[in-house]
Amino acid sequence: MNYTITIYPKQEKIQAKSGEILLDVLARYGYYLSADCGGKGTCGKCKVRLLKGKVDSVIPDENGDVLSCKARVKGDLEISLSAHLMMEKGSGVDVFQSIKMQGDADGLGVILDVGTTTLVACLVDLHTGETLGKRSAINPQGVYGADVLSRIQACQEGKLPLLQSAILQKSKDMIDDLAQGREIKQLIVAANTTMLHIFLGVNPQTIGAYPFTPVFTATQNIAGKSLGLPVEKVRLLPSASGYIGSDITAGTLACLTENAQKTQLFVDVGTNGEVVLSHQGKFYTASTAAGPALEGACIECGMGGVAGAIDKVWTENGKLLFTTIDGVTAQGICGSGLIDCIAVLLQEGILDESGALEENAKSALIGRLVDGAFYLTENVYVSQKDIRQFQLAKSAISAGIQTLLKECNVCADDVETLCIAGSLGYYMNVKNAALTGLIPKSLCEKIKTVGNTALSGARLCLLRDEKQQEIEKIATKMQNIELSFSKFFQDLYVENMLFDIE
Ligand code: FES
Repeated sequence: MNYTITIYPKQEKIQAKSGEILLDVLARYGYYLSADCGGKGTCGKCKVRLLKGKVDSVIPDENGDVLSCKARVKGDLEISLSAHLMMEKGSGVDVFQSIKMQGDADGLGVILDVGTTTLVACLVDLHTGETLGKRSAINPQGVYGADVLSRIQACQEGKLPLLQSAILQKSKDMIDDLAQGREIKQLIVAANTTMLHIFLGVNPQTIGAYPFTPVFTATQNIAGKSLGLPVEKVRLLPSASGYIGSDITAGTLACLTENAQKTQLFVDVGTNGEVVLSHQGKFYTASTAAGPALEGACIECGMGGVAGAIDKVWTENGKLLFTTIDGVTAQGICGSGLIDCIAVLLQEGILDESGALEENAKSALIGRLVDGAFYLTENVYVSQKDIRQFQLAKSAISAGIQTLLKECNVCADDVETLCIAGSLGYYMNVKNAALTGLIPKSLCEKIKTVGNTALSGARLCLLRDEKQQEIEKIATKMQNIELSFSKFFQDLYVENMLFDIE
């Protein structure tokens, strides 16, 4: 039996079969809601408001909201989706784009960074190297979980074709929007290894379990039309291993090759924290499961870096101040805002060394602490649970950096530069990152934020053949240090869970 679901505010009508999961129906029609827990019913991010009609398996809460991942359609429905779910602004600052580099060819190309959370595409003039346009979007696979492991699990459950078509459709939309009918000669894709597999419809399940071996790591060249993409040729840049994807080889190409003899670190802070150490002409890598907290997922009021996200928090004369992306009303908090908020809580004594919220702290902001949550606005708060999620993330990254250095017998003093990649790296307050322990304090002075280096490296490969050869060498040369086998990692991880209160 078929039913009609009317979606407000657009009043679009879509069709569903009796018993279908509402979240799946919405995804089929391009409404990709956040589903951080992958449909387990624990994150609450997939809520929709039920205006009319009934669903099976869930009871609406006091606001009339239901978890769409659990709700089964059993009649005609009218629902409303909150506006911020649909926003697709994201960010992807390619700080190297201003560097003048002419290309070997003529025509137009597109570079695409497929992040687990966000997609960013740029239209590039193949001769002048100039960026002619840019588009960002939320990765529609978010409906199958916030992190790489949930996506792998979804593929194991037979959903690979759905994940692949979601990403290809979104990529196609972005390219069409950029090209405006013009011919695109080449698309270069940089992504983590799992995203690359899904992009090609290759099951990434072997990456999900030890020894985490991917089906492929080498460069993949495919005709655009075989993927249904409006480009002549598609090239997926090479990965180094299951957890060091082409986003990281591209970042290494962009940041670490000019002074290869120098001791430098490159860290991409995202759902996974990937670390590359360049030392005596060699590249050592490590990957650490930071979890999605720093991307605003699995945080109660968390959201990506889109309009309405609180992105900066600070105090002035005892008053709490913040800004939001695009200056619109606060709807949630993103990674950089979360780091700042935790730094403020530490400075105000509202957070102790163990990460517990202190109800008896003598702070002018203590009135904002209500029932174990610190309120930035009436509706946006950071809870004790969120702080625990942050501790897990910051500890994984900080311990990952320290372990890699120890394993390679390099001390922090010898590191000349720490390049922080990713849009979080670009927007975060470096001092607060060190204060909260996300970055070891000893490296704080050496930090250089480098933006979206997956795009920077992809741009180099799009424009110059020799850069493509170089990235292939980097990928084969990288030596991975498996953190779970390191005798240092566990202790450092436990140690870094605490906050360093001076
Ligand atoms: Fe529905 Fe998490 S509660 S996806």
